[in-house]
Amino acid sequence: MKILILNGPNLNLIGRREPEIYGTKSFGEFIDEVRQKYSGVEIDYRQSNHEGILIDVIQESDGVYDGIIFNPGAYAHTSIALADAIRSVKTPVVEVHLSNIYEREEFRRHSFTAEACVASIVGRGMCGYEDALDMLLGM
Ligand code: DQA
Repeated sequence: MKILILNGPNLNLIGRREPEIYGTKSFGEFIDEVRQKYSGVEIDYRQSNHEGILIDVIQESDGVYDGIIFNPGAYAHTSIALADAIRSVKTPVVEVHLSNIYEREEFRRHSFTAEACVASIVGRGMCGYEDALDMLLGM
């Protein structure tokens, strides 16, 4: 089983960025923990602040991974191009948001990308990535 965790813009700053919303654990620490916990699963991790690079990564992941766990960051609320990329691949994509986007500002309450995903998990912090992993492993 091969899974890609893909993070979008500003998620490289998790652990330092708005800790009251996103927590204090860095993504590097979390990835180490998750790789130890799911030692039988090959877990790759990519992050980009650029919409086009995220689209390239999704396109190139088709057939390579059994599933993609994707936190598009703010692009969730704006990017029809990313939603189209998700729809273009056969690999199932689960969207994750650390915070509960439906309980935050109005502009965060709609996700174009979630509409293209097989599921969306919000408001569970880093546990959301594990929930998504469990979901993909069970599929
Ligand atoms: C986020 C939610 C987005 O609205 C925000 O722009 C982010 C982080 C989350 O994980 O809660 O960058 O994707």
